[in-house]
Amino acid sequence: MLKKYIEKNQDKFLNELLDFLKIQSVSADPKFKDEVLKGAKFLEEKLQAAGAENICIHETKGHPIVYADKIIDKELPTVLVYGHYDVQPADPYELWDSDPFDPVVKKTPIHPHGAIFARGACDDKGQMYMHVKAFEAMLKTNNLPCNVKFMFEGEEEVGSANLETFVRANTELLKADVVLVSDTGIIANDTPSICVGLRGLSYVEVEVTGPNRDLHSGLYGGGVANPINILSKMIASLHDENGAINIPGFYNDVQVVSKEERKEMAKAPFDIHDYQKDLEIEDVAGENGFSTNERTSIRPSLDVNGIWGGYIGDGAKTVLPSKAYAKISMRLVPNQNSETITKLFTNHFNKIAPSCIKVKVTPHHGGEGVVIPTDFPGYMAAKKAMETSFGKSPIPVRSGGSIPIVPMFEEVLGLKTILLGFGLDSDVIHSPNEHFGLFNYFKGIETIPLFYKNFTELKKN
Ligand code: BES
Ligand code: MN
Ligand code: MN
Repeated sequence: MLKKYIEKNQDKFLNELLDFLKIQSVSADPKFKDEVLKGAKFLEEKLQAAGAENICIHETKGHPIVYADKIIDKELPTVLVYGHYDVQPADPYELWDSDPFDPVVKKTPIHPHGAIFARGACDDKGQMYMHVKAFEAMLKTNNLPCNVKFMFEGEEEVGSANLETFVRANTELLKADVVLVSDTGIIANDTPSICVGLRGLSYVEVEVTGPNRDLHSGLYGGGVANPINILSKMIASLHDENGAINIPGFYNDVQVVSKEERKEMAKAPFDIHDYQKDLEIEDVAGENGFSTNERTSIRPSLDVNGIWGGYIGDGAKTVLPSKAYAKISMRLVPNQNSETITKLFTNHFNKIAPSCIKVKVTPHHGGEGVVIPTDFPGYMAAKKAMETSFGKSPIPVRSGGSIPIVPMFEEVLGLKTILLGFGLDSDVIHSPNEHFGLFNYFKGIETIPLFYKNFTELKKN
């Protein structure tokens, strides 16, 4: 029945997602505020049509949170579904092969059945919409085995600050047995996996000031410190010759992963040559003594995300700039604390600043890392669901990305999260030509009801 309903409604499920993707719900840019609200209203309407109750668009200081639920029996377990309907800015537009907000379905070598190209197709509108459609299918065919609560936010890509406030203020409303999130990925369409770890994040902006104004680089060059030269040197010193981060105390709290666990992790299929070929790089780089997968999951990292200052227009302008700037992200591993790391960074950066310039460090949003156990009913239910839908047992994998609200669910609601994502790394989330496979979208819609069923059964026993 359930399967038939999904099959029969394939076109409808796809077309609704395409409509959803036309909404330009970019949370970072105030210009799109009304569009983000439109995204919330779209969800409100679709949740209503699917049969959800107590639907509410909760206003915040930023973008709204959409809440809805369906309580069929207070004695039954409750799944709390979280997702985000905001997206990253689509810039640079000129690198897209089609309009980021006018979705098109195209075949690719990795997605022979077609993929939807649009900003948010995979991260996270496509993946969160799978939950709305899976819920509709379960309810309309009398197959909803437990209670469900939906919480969809419009600020994940800018740090979820208001969601944190909402969660802290609504612990009773959000009472559940597990959190279910589809905002991560699988290894490949024929290699299912479940994300069991996320990294934390500390994000700072630095400003280096030299002379009080831009100067003629001939008249002053050589005699006055150039803030761009100095900033470059300071940034270069943040890694040592072994590729490790060179900030005193940075590794103090890093959780050491056992040899056995590392051996287990190394079993996940990964081809370094394919990886290099895909990125068109001759070699990988990183911390000595760790594999590429380890470097991007169980080890912290530090990267400049943007750097600017001085003259960057056409031609040449001979100028010794007054200021230089950079945005720097540090990905953290479980047990590191983002505030502590931000402080360590700030102190260190001030300490290494020569007296010829001034330094200002401004912290942005942050969040903590998380590891998800593989021996509780939520994980077992997800594993069994994937075994049924993919016909293969999923591999537990730690990811390098961050979803700061996940550790908050544990801290504030005492709930573990299942990261049942269906995206691929090659879906290029956050980049031009982001896409999401039709196979993945429908595999998600097929797998989610299996999770509900397995989880309810496991909880009953
Ligand atoms: N969905 C991603 C995170 C992700 C993607 C985790 C793939 C694991 C696998 C999320 O929307 C995201 O982009 N998070 C941000 C952090 C946020 C604070 C801006 C990130 O990781 O950069
Ligand atoms: Mn996301
Ligand atoms: Mn994202």
